[in-house]
Amino acid sequence: MVKAEHYSLQNYNTFGFPVITRYFFEYDSEEQLKRALPEIHRPIFNIGGGSNLLFLDNYNGTVIHSAIDGIEVVNQDYNYVYVKAGSGVIWDDFVEYTVRQNWWGAENLSFIPGQVGSSAVQNVGAYGVEAKDIIYQVEAVDTDSLQTVILSNGECRFSYRSSVFKAELKDKYVITYVTFKLSRKPKPVLTNNSLKERFAAIPYPFIKEIRNAIIEIRQSKLPDVSQLGSAGSFFKNPIVDKSCADRLLQSYPSMPCFATDGGMFKLSAGWLLETAGWRGYRSGNVGVYDKHALILVHYGGGTGKEMLSLVGKIQKSVRDKFLIELEPEVIFIG
Ligand code: EPU
Repeated sequence: MVKAEHYSLQNYNTFGFPVITRYFFEYDSEEQLKRALPEIHRPIFNIGGGSNLLFLDNYNGTVIHSAIDGIEVVNQDYNYVYVKAGSGVIWDDFVEYTVRQNWWGAENLSFIPGQVGSSAVQNVGAYGVEAKDIIYQVEAVDTDSLQTVILSNGECRFSYRSSVFKAELKDKYVITYVTFKLSRKPKPVLTNNSLKERFAAIPYPFIKEIRNAIIEIRQSKLPDVSQLGSAGSFFKNPIVDKSCADRLLQSYPSMPCFATDGGMFKLSAGWLLETAGWRGYRSGNVGVYDKHALILVHYGGGTGKEMLSLVGKIQKSVRDKFLIELEPEVIFIG
């Protein structure tokens, strides 16, 4: 357990902005959390790995952080294994563990930064899989009543990079455990283009081969946050209607555009940014990664406000050029 005042969050946000929280509380168990909640100075902000956050200022409340550990099998049958993990478990440690056991479902989500708890808040996704595809249920503590609540997958209302914990129930619940339903039988998901190519000649890959391929792809495209501050994709890929997609395809016939459920189309924010000329751009201490335009980076010595100003310029240029409103995936605090 850690209780501190005027605590630096530089190591708790992968952008590496040097912000300070008035109070900080890290808990190792649900009991510790419940005992502390009535006395914690409000507002409370629950932080995971800090890999999806942009602090614009110091935080004048309490930042709480889960260090709840542990991975255990809580149920199993012929086809599936139900694995419960503490919200403080490092996400990729969890994925690695499941891959070692040969339990299928999480392997495409290899090497995503963050913790188990935030995987449910954010519904992390990559290479054709989202956390919602494997989350069975989420256990949380109600910050007012201190009751433990269990939400089924449906009750979490998962959507693209979002859930009830980011929307209606924001700040109401603190996630303590997530239970995943993983398959004992091989279930490779190789629909993503980069995986399709790699596995064209290997129709039944080992789970470990998929994890290794994904780690290699991610390392080649995304910056190592210990070397260069970033928060992964900064914006969501815009979902637009057919008339908007057709309008853009007329001017840009090679624009990536994917049909989604409900007759809508997903565009590539990375492509929009690159086409608007942002890839490799730098302004002072912040900029746009030169290998992937959807990644905004902090070179050190900058502030969240500097990043915010770059974000505004990028959004305006995309609005002016394509009539598209880019929505940040990253959460702004302050
Ligand atoms: N593209 C460009 N220029 C760029 C970057 C991308 O033209 O600088 C185009 C490429 O044509 C490519 C397309 O954009 O075909 C899509 O790029 P990529 O495959 O890298 O995927 P993405 O849509 O940019 C999403 C997720 C990533 C996830 C990857 C892999 C979002 C916002 N991002 O990125 O998630 O790892 O797919 O599945 O949905 C994250 O959320 O932080 C994250 C990294």
